[in-house]
Amino acid sequence: MDALTIAMPKGRIFEEAYELLVKAGYDLPKELDDSRKLIVEAPNENIRFILAKPMDVPAYVEHGVVDIGIAGKDVMLEHDRDVYELLDLGISRCYIATAGMPDTPMNKVSPRVATKYPKVASQYYRGKGEQVEIIELNGSIELAPMIGLADRIVDIVSTGKTLKENGLIEYEKIVDITSRLIVNPVSYRLKQERITELVGRLRKQVIL
Ligand code: PRP
Repeated sequence: MDALTIAMPKGRIFEEAYELLVKAGYDLPKELDDSRKLIVEAPNENIRFILAKPMDVPAYVEHGVVDIGIAGKDVMLEHDRDVYELLDLGISRCYIATAGMPDTPMNKVSPRVATKYPKVASQYYRGKGEQVEIIELNGSIELAPMIGLADRIVDIVSTGKTLKENGLIEYEKIVDITSRLIVNPVSYRLKQERITELVGRLRKQVIL
């Protein structure tokens, strides 16, 4: 039987996703956790894990190089992907919000907004009827208003620590985020039994 392939996001989401799979009764190799290997087999489960950058997980799933992925809703909202979103895993809870320096005037015409999420940010401001200039960055978004690159940011807030430690304040929450189990539509047809079992076992462990 072909291995079931799962793209796991490295970084913040990884630990909670790993724990959820273990709680669901999957026998996972230790090295999944603590090595720099990018492909790790779980031979007892006939599962192959691909360790990927969180932003890239939906692309792997859409292109069918893996059957399943664990991806943040933030990434799903930013890029339209032809995948099935089968389960809200309830992990890596955070939200996307607007923020900036406390003394920034809010009435500026066409303010500059720095973000990793240009689509989410554009939709949000379009919905409010506000014209903004989007500046797309790849990380450390909080720096932008501190060094005069942007008037505001649209970014993930988890504990709120990064905003606080850099003297930024949150303006408005845009959307709540959790991680999702996503599946390639062809894999879902071909490996339906195993995927349904995985979803069922994970669902029992999910705390929403
Ligand atoms: C994310 C996000 C914020 C931070 C929020 O960045 O973009 O910067 O976490 O977390 P907090 O509210 O708990 O402080 P991440 O660390 O993923 O890296 P990045 O700056 O490269 O995007």
